[in-house]
Amino acid sequence: MSVRKDVLHILESNKGSCVSGQELAEMSGVSRAAVWKAIKSLMEEGYEIETSKKGYALSPSSDILSAQGIRLYLNEEYKNIQVIVYKTIGSTNAEAKLLAVKNAGHGTTIVAEEQTQGRGRFGRDFFSPSGSGIYMSIILKPQLSIENSVLVTTAAAVAICQAIEKITDLSPRIKWVNDILIDDRKVCGILTEAVTNFESGMMDSVVVGIGINVKTKKDDFPPELRDIAGSILDNKDKPVRNRLAGEIINNLLNISKSLEDRGFMQAYKQRSMVLGHHILYKKDNQWQEAYALDIDDYGGLIVQRPDGQKITLNSGEVSIKKK
Ligand code: BTN
Repeated sequence: MSVRKDVLHILESNKGSCVSGQELAEMSGVSRAAVWKAIKSLMEEGYEIETSKKGYALSPSSDILSAQGIRLYLNEEYKNIQVIVYKTIGSTNAEAKLLAVKNAGHGTTIVAEEQTQGRGRFGRDFFSPSGSGIYMSIILKPQLSIENSVLVTTAAAVAICQAIEKITDLSPRIKWVNDILIDDRKVCGILTEAVTNFESGMMDSVVVGIGINVKTKKDDFPPELRDIAGSILDNKDKPVRNRLAGEIINNLLNISKSLEDRGFMQAYKQRSMVLGHHILYKKDNQWQEAYALDIDDYGGLIVQRPDGQKITLNSGEVSIKKK
């Protein structure tokens, strides 16, 4: 590990408390001059580090995403997964797909403070401004048949909701298939992409792309999103991003151990905001009405049409019909 990484790891582990230059030097196995150089480079990067005669303290409100910061919250069994954090990147999904092809291991996670070409579903852009969200892509090697691969997205929605619930007192809801809403505003979207091995024709890995608005202010969203998008936190100073990213990785890796058991499906249904509601879905470019009855074993939405016919929606978008 580089001195900068070692020093950041120690400061993140002791956030808000002062660590002396001597301790930092001993723990990193380098000179105090090397420690000071690392501290300076971290400060130049934007880390708020208080320096005093006693040593160095990372501000308790520091909320910069880093591999060291995220790793602190990973369960023991996942401490060794690869976590790569970028200040800015085109798209974490695009990068994760490249790494997946190069055989990156199960759980490898790419995170960015900002995306310049963030991608959403249906070829849309995903608004990914710097410093206020989490844009992350987790590579999974779930040993799944193609027909079960959609389960990964369903599982990811549960993993994200449970992480938000653990860290805040909020009750996120899932709008089928994979939007997460708080107070009727979308705070998170998921884009799952399969990476197929062209030689074997099998699904090699799955990249689960997660974009979360953690503390984006209403006025910072582009006008077309202002009425539909929201953020998780009101308290913009609360540093939660590393922890939230870590908890999501823990939850997703836990659930992905037994995806085919579908044990998470109950948790998905409990948080669904469409079940038991009249909804609108698109067929042949026309909005159709139906009543949302259930989610099937493959994550499909079972609905009843006004003529009584039951059908299963396997993809697409729905909206809840206003009374
Ligand atoms: C959607 O709501 O349409 C899905 C949005 C998914 C956005 C995430 S952000 C991290 C990852 N990288 C991307 O380019 N997209 C996903």
